[in-house]
This record gives sequence, C-alpha cells and structure tokens, in this order.
Amino acid sequence: MGVSFNQDRKQFHLSTINTSYLMEVVLDRHLVHGYWGKRIHTPDLKCFVDLYEVCSFSPNPEKNHKSISFDTMPREYPDYGRSDYQSPAFEVRLEDGSHVCAPVYKSHRIYKGKEGIEGMPSLYACEDDVVETLEISLVDDLFGLEVILHYSVYEAYDVITRRVTFVNRGNGSIQLKKALSANVDFYQNHDFELMNLYGGWARERHISKIPIGHSTHVVDSKRGASSHEQNPFIALLGPKTTEHVGEVYAMNLIYSGSFMGEVSVNSYGGTRMQMGMNTIDFEWDLLPSTSFDTPEVVMVYSHEGLNGMSKIFHKIYKDRLCRGHWQDKVRPIRINNWEATYFDFDEQKIKTLIDESANLGIELMVLDDGWFGQRDSDSSGLGDWFVNKEKLPGGLEALADYANEKGMDFGLWFEPEMVSPDSALYKKHPNWCLHVPNRDRSEARNQLILDMGRADVRNYLFSALSQVLKSASIRYVKWDMNRNMTEVGSAILATNKQKETSHRYILGLYNLLDKITKAFPDILFESCSGGGGRFDPGMLYYMPQTWTSDDTDSYERLKIQWGTSMLYPPITMGAHVSEIPNHQVMRMTPLHTRAYVAMAANLGFELDLTKLSDEEKSVVKSHIDQYKRIRKTVQLGEFYRLISPYENNCTAWMFQSKDKNQVVLFYYRHLAKPNDLEPKIKLHYLDPEGLYRLEDGQQFYGDTLMNFGLRLPTMTGDFDSVMVILDKVK
Ligand code: DGJ
Repeated sequence: MGVSFNQDRKQFHLSTINTSYLMEVVLDRHLVHGYWGKRIHTPDLKCFVDLYEVCSFSPNPEKNHKSISFDTMPREYPDYGRSDYQSPAFEVRLEDGSHVCAPVYKSHRIYKGKEGIEGMPSLYACEDDVVETLEISLVDDLFGLEVILHYSVYEAYDVITRRVTFVNRGNGSIQLKKALSANVDFYQNHDFELMNLYGGWARERHISKIPIGHSTHVVDSKRGASSHEQNPFIALLGPKTTEHVGEVYAMNLIYSGSFMGEVSVNSYGGTRMQMGMNTIDFEWDLLPSTSFDTPEVVMVYSHEGLNGMSKIFHKIYKDRLCRGHWQDKVRPIRINNWEATYFDFDEQKIKTLIDESANLGIELMVLDDGWFGQRDSDSSGLGDWFVNKEKLPGGLEALADYANEKGMDFGLWFEPEMVSPDSALYKKHPNWCLHVPNRDRSEARNQLILDMGRADVRNYLFSALSQVLKSASIRYVKWDMNRNMTEVGSAILATNKQKETSHRYILGLYNLLDKITKAFPDILFESCSGGGGRFDPGMLYYMPQTWTSDDTDSYERLKIQWGTSMLYPPITMGAHVSEIPNHQVMRMTPLHTRAYVAMAANLGFELDLTKLSDEEKSVVKSHIDQYKRIRKTVQLGEFYRLISPYENNCTAWMFQSKDKNQVVLFYYRHLAKPNDLEPKIKLHYLDPEGLYRLEDGQQFYGDTLMNFGLRLPTMTGDFDSVMVILDKVK
C-alpha cells in the first residue's frame, strides 16, 4: 500500500485501503495516466495504457512512434501545444515569446509523511499516520522549467492529495499563465454525471447534477473568493450513483480564491477532469531560481455512493485539516445579536440578551457588526477597529465581564479585510485598497477591499485586532468578508505583476490568519463571507467552523445544509434558530423545526429572546437541553443523508456517535398533504444485530430499523418535523 514503483515497467501504483491510482512512464519520457478507481492488483498489467495509431488529425510528437499522440493518450499533467487538444493543465509564456513547453520525466522521490506548502493551507500528516508522498519531476531542458508533481497517499483515510511546484532552473523569466493543481484523464469514459455545488448569496451549495455528454463544462469562481456561486468542488458520478451506492470521483481544492474545475470529453470518449486556480486574474512572473506552489487538491474515490464520499471528506477534514485547541472539542451554543438588533443596540440591550440567554443555557454571546468606529449602518466605519464608546460606554470589557458573571463566554465580529471609504483608515491610506490607477473604485455594500498582499496592511490589521482581542476576555471571533473583488490591482506591484494581485491577496490573507490564530490559540474562530461565500477547506484550515449561510429559514437551510454536508462535516456548519416571519424569505415555520434544523449542525440562536413568550422560552430551553445530550454525536460522530430535500416533499438525515452507541434521526416534512400516511423511514449504517431503544422505551433491532424501517408520528401542518434519539442497548 502507499506508493510503489515498478522499475522494469516504469509504473507507479498509489494505493489506499479502497483506491488505486496508476501512472506509467512511456518511452522513458512521457508520464501517462493509467487508472483511478477501486483498488486493484497490478502485477498482471504489463502496461497501463494501449497505444495505437490513429488518423492524421491526431499528430505524433515522437518522430518514430506513430502510435503516440497526446490526442489519444491519457496524460498525467498535460502541457500545451503538442498534439493535445483538450485544455492543458498548465501554460507558460517563455522569453522567446513561445508558449509550447515539453517537460519530460526525469526522476522521482518517494518519502514517508508529507511536507506542508509554505504559506498555504493543506492537509497535514501526524507522526503515526501511514502517509507516503511521491514527487515526480518533469523537466523542459530548453528553458530550464521543472514541474514537480506531488502526490500524498493517506492509506487509512482513503484520500490522495495532489499539487504542483514550478521551478525556474533557467536563466530567463518564465511567465506562468495557468497552473492547475490536478488533472485526471479517464480513458474512454463519457457516461459520467457532473456534480457541483452552486448557488448565490443566501442560497449556497445547492446540488447540480448533469450528464457530461460530449462537451466541456467549467465550474468556477472569478470573484477573488471561493464564493457563494460555486464551491471549489467537482465530482464525476458513475451511472446510477445514489447516496448509498455507485462510483464517485471527487476533487475539492484547498483554496479560498478564484478557482476552476473543468470536465471535457474528447473525440475518442476520453474524459478529462481538472481543478486548480482560475486563470482569470492570474499570471506569475517566475524569475530564475524561484518556485511557485499551486494549492492542494483533495481527491476522493468512493464506490459507496455520495455518503461514502462525504464520510471520507468529513473524517479527513475533522482529523487532518482543522487544527488547534477547538479541533475536536464540542462547540459552544451561541446567541448572536445580528438578526435580533442589527445595528440598533447599546450596552443595556446586549446585557438583556445575555440575561435571557444565560437563563436558557446558551453558552456564548456574540456581538456582531456595529460595535466599533462610526458604524450605525453599513455605510461607514470598516477599518476603524476601536470600540464605539457612545454605544458601549463600558467598552467590550464590561460586556465580556457581564457575560462571564452569568456563566457565558463572549465573542466578537470583525470584517478585517475591508475598508469603508467613510472611515479614518481610508482617509489616512486611500491606496491600501485594491484598485487600478485613474479608474473608479466599484463599491459593494459601501466598502472596498484592503490589499492583503501588502505587509503594511497586514501589520496594521494584526496590531489593531490584537489590541481589541487583548482588551477583554474574548473567546470567539467571527471573521466576516462581505464583497467580491473588482478593479483587481495593487499599488505596490510592478506593471508586469498586476495579475499576481489576486493570488497574493489570498497568500496575504493566509499569512494574517496564521499569525492571528497562533497569537490567540484559545479563541474559537468562525469564518463567514456574507454567510457561506467562502466555505472552503482553505478557511477551515485556520478557522474550524463557518457561518453556513445568511439564510436562516429552516426550509431553505435543509437544502443548504444538505449540499454543504457533501464535503464539510456538521461541526463546521454554524446554524442558528431565528425568528418568524423569517428575515430572508418571510416564511413561517414552527419553532421546533427551526430548532431541529439548527440542531443538525453547530447550534446557535439569532433572535431577540426578550420577545419570546414564557412558553416559547421553555420550549427553547428544552431544545438546548436536548442538544447538549446529542451534541457529541452531532459534532464528533458520523453523519449520513437519507432523504433528499431536492427530490422529495421531506428531508431526513441521521447521526451516529463515534462509539456507535447513540443514533439521532431527524425527519422534516415540507408541505402538508391531505390524507397523508404516517412516515416510515429506513435507517442505514446500523449494527444489524444491535438492539436500539427509543426514548419512549420501544426497542428494535438494527436490521429491523434498516429494512422494515421506523414508523414516525403523523405530521401536522407545513414544515413539521421530528427528532428521534436511539440508544444502543446491546
Ligand atoms: C454578513 C454576515 O453573514 C451576517 O451574519 C452579519 O454578520 C452581517 N454580515 C453583519 O454586517
């Protein structure tokens, strides 16, 4: 297992418990892709690919080998311009103005463990992990460009990661124009469906599945952020793949900026799947003796359907992406004042919210936007990170101390990457934002974006934020980011480097996040970008949870949380109970359903608790007590999707604790139907011989629950729901 190399046949075999990934060096030069899929033995395979002569429209880069054409050959990391007519994985402009590049296999290295990427997030390996890394070096001698392909194999996790390093070993400058992280050519496969997670603000990560046919599909973000619009994820699904069965080939990019995933089918039926940084707003001036690292792609193959894929992503993200003090700790139940007060609050109002929250068993008070500078609306103040003493005369300290006296922790909202033109910071440093000289600066939500590629900007932010975080007992930070890039240019970069601005921004952001999270290791950081506009593995590396969406309506949230759960474990998904009519869609849903949706993730509240009746308060208290009972299972256990909100009038999902002794099922009916039968639902992934007890004392065997199913109470009205807790007694 791990990485092996057959010297005679020049074949690489990467294997995890369930996956094989094969490559071969043909004619001692060309690195050819052989296979990615269910684990196989390979000694019987003399060669992984058949080469044969085809028509003259598939040209031959090797003079004496008519059977070699890059048009027909599955390639590992395709270059541009030498008979491969699909999209290249990388592209350069060389000093002589040419774009053709011909790197060939030179050497490789296999080592135990995995090295990180300087300045960028990636999956890590711990000492006892069975992880092996393969580095393959391809070199174009004409211009001295070395392309190093890195593969790390996480045997037990069933994961392979990929990334690429470009090294300029020549004397002239090389302009990188495209530098993707991974490419997989499937030989004669075109019956896949492409799955991606699309959306927009307040409706993130909805499921899209389409047959790929004979065409090219691009899933991307050009926004300078991973975005609400698309998640940095694509998957190819084999025929008839469902949640529980079938083949899935998935790629998820650990990057928070513009990205692209592409799937195309060539005229021979070969399917190419690619992922990496977007070419828009990207170029890199690779000077002699320097190198450039792409972000890392996490590749998952599952033959157990989409739940099988998610189980792998959830486990490795919980264990080997998220880090720090909070990585495997259950998370505090929050009250956030945003939907309760928006900008209209003062010290007394927040104290009243703390009183109510403490009585209900809530554990953390989060003070959202509006506590700093001149910030009574979204039109001013960003960048001025000092307390507004008119609103909060006792400062943050008074509020944090008050929360602590009531047995709660205190947390704070920031939007560090932004500046309001109406702010002291902007007046002092008008060139600190992204902009292009002599052009208008497009505002969004009345704000501009600070150039995170600048060290002076990062230094200012680090010191301003540190000062605030040291000024009171602050145990949580919500790091928001509320617009996407325009006029992408930097005042400190030379004219030929302007297209580096966007990637340098992301590197700068990671640098600041690294510094601040190391300086305050006990603070729980939650990332946010107008909800889930940057819910990606890059951000999760620094901040172990994300505000899933600004849409808090429980019905909309079913679809959002369903889609998000494809990749990201429920512990990473902030989910709040809010008031009705819902502020985003005006929908009325019952309190228990709002709670059961939020309780199926990382629970919080976002409403004015003082407006609840005593009866409602006691219901909320009982939900909080129940959540504390199931929290470990929901946050640290395993999660499975059962009935999709996209295809049914109901949704169901379930959790199983790490020790398999507690199972929690949530069932949500959408619209009421006359004369409807009581629901009966089949559970999955239980111990067939195990005996499970419900709260009312009824007991069922696992095989009964999985095959006959569990009868649920009749639903009443729209958006009714039920939560069932089962304890394994035998
Ligand atoms: C967008 C966030 O998603 C909201 O939760 C809230 O924090 C606002 N920004 C505050 O401006």
